[in-house]
Amino acid sequence: MNDDQDSPSTGQSTLPAASEITAAPAAFGKYRAPTRAAFGLTSPVETSSVHLTINGQPREFHLAPWTTLLDALRLYAGLMGTKKGCDHGQCGACTVLVNGTRINSCLTLAVMQQGQQITTIEGLGTATSLSALQQAFIDHDAFQCGYCTPGQICSAQGLLYEGKAHTEDEIREQMSGNLCRCGAYVNILAAVKEVVDAQTA
Ligand code: FES
Ligand code: FES
Repeated sequence: MNDDQDSPSTGQSTLPAASEITAAPAAFGKYRAPTRAAFGLTSPVETSSVHLTINGQPREFHLAPWTTLLDALRLYAGLMGTKKGCDHGQCGACTVLVNGTRINSCLTLAVMQQGQQITTIEGLGTATSLSALQQAFIDHDAFQCGYCTPGQICSAQGLLYEGKAHTEDEIREQMSGNLCRCGAYVNILAAVKEVVDAQTA
């Protein structure tokens, strides 16, 4: 049996074609998560109405109760800036701010954040009006592949709000939940330190 087969008796795959499930979005805002029917599932799923304010915009979703905040943002709000790395709270790629506090969005259900203010990387600045941290990351070349960068910047924004980290060692410690597989730590530290110093000057 090869990897495409899920039935040893028939050799027939019951999975839908990949093109039916994950057609690339023409634009991030137009992306819609695959329906249950695409997976051959027909039983109804009880959904919950979830109200979130995302980057200042009130949004309402009807979500299965097990939908993580990360999936709600990426699949239902169409905000792909927040990244899924480990999906287990280990890497920090999914870091967003909830009422100004940084959290791993893969470790919380969307329904648990009912009514909360969510800020993602898209809400921190725009291409023509970068936040201080976004500009510092560019200035210090603080990324290589960039996959961890949204989480790094959201986490650093949370660190700034907390106001507890001032020295390089303190910043390293407070940013230790955000991994960078490219090893851009020296430059990330320099970028964050620059903004911390500017804030406390
Ligand atoms: S994807 Fe959430 S911590 Fe890794
Ligand atoms: S820049 Fe590639 S993982 Fe951090």
